[in-house]
Amino acid sequence: ISSENQQILSAHEWLTKLFHHLIRFTKDGKAGYQYLQERGITDETIDTFQLGFAPNTKNFTATFLEKKGFHQQMLVKFGLLSRSSEDGSISDRFRGRVIFPIRNHLGKTIAFGARALQGGEPKYLNSPETELFQKGKILYNFDLAKKHIRKSNEVVLFEGYFDVISAYQSGVQNAVATMGTALTEIQAKLLKRYVDTVIICYDGDKAGIEATYRAAQLLEQVGCLVKIASIKDGLDPDSFIKEYGGDAFKREVLEASQTFMSFYMQYKKKDFNLSLEGDRIQYVTEILQELAKIESPVEREFYIKELSNEYNITVESLQHEINQYRQKTG
Ligand code: GTP
Ligand code: MN
Ligand code: MN
Ligand code: MN
Ligand code: MN
Repeated sequence: ISSENQQILSAHEWLTKLFHHLIRFTKDGKAGYQYLQERGITDETIDTFQLGFAPNTKNFTATFLEKKGFHQQMLVKFGLLSRSSEDGSISDRFRGRVIFPIRNHLGKTIAFGARALQGGEPKYLNSPETELFQKGKILYNFDLAKKHIRKSNEVVLFEGYFDVISAYQSGVQNAVATMGTALTEIQAKLLKRYVDTVIICYDGDKAGIEATYRAAQLLEQVGCLVKIASIKDGLDPDSFIKEYGGDAFKREVLEASQTFMSFYMQYKKKDFNLSLEGDRIQYVTEILQELAKIESPVEREFYIKELSNEYNITVESLQHEINQYRQKTG
């Protein structure tokens, strides 16, 4: 490990402890503490995730780390301090924000996510990428979730920090998140090494549904069994839990998760006007092409029957068409 990486780890460790201490025990962290309380986060959860608060002052982090002997230039590079483009002066980058330490698989903090209190912009400010922090390689909370993932042979994949934290607090501990960016092949393969089944539980808005489709395809490609846990009313997992509670989340969202195929049959409808005959035919054709990829005859038949009922087409013709696709693709 290079000495620069040592410095990253060391600076993040100091700051994680400092920000966490501030939010739990001091007046300087009170605004952050109140914010988390309003969002239903308990002290125990704050401790588990080492959540913290960076005060809204210009030189708090800078002064603290300078005393510890870190070089300013390096701290700018790690995104802990920022340099003014006007006069070149150095100041804290995270100000007046709740801090989410982002840990690697060994539990060491390698970056921060930082949320503005009510209405600040940008909503989240994250550390820049460094040699140790590459967004596309890290899954938030993987270190804590790992043993629960192994035990249940399932992982629940979320979009955001708060989704993971709320789920964890409600007893869903096999929880990780992509931190807002699209799932990468590296992350998908990482999950595949630990589990067979990935439950995707993204936000119930349009962006979340689109991202669900892409993540599901990628996970299937690397050999995972994918289930989709959809959330109604455009809520996200965290706001669902706040509104209806953790038990409802487990029963109505996680346990009610669908197979990828039945999600896909629903999802694809958006491309068609199914009151038109031509569109109906096209829709069914596209679904059959996807169905043809399913290896299990029992599973195929299940969806064929569903299509047959819904679109009033005989099972035989649907089966016949699928067989043709299967021959073509070998
Ligand atoms: P809350 O509003 O605090 O509940 O956050 P959220 O997690 O529901 O936010 P959202 O669904 O908008 O985004 C999901 C994840 O994307 C967040 O947890 C962040 O990791 C990331 N993200 C969201 N907004 C921003 C942003 O403005 N900048 C950056 N860098 N990341 C963001
Ligand atoms: Mn957003
Ligand atoms: Mn979202
Ligand atoms: Mn969200
Ligand atoms: Mn949210």
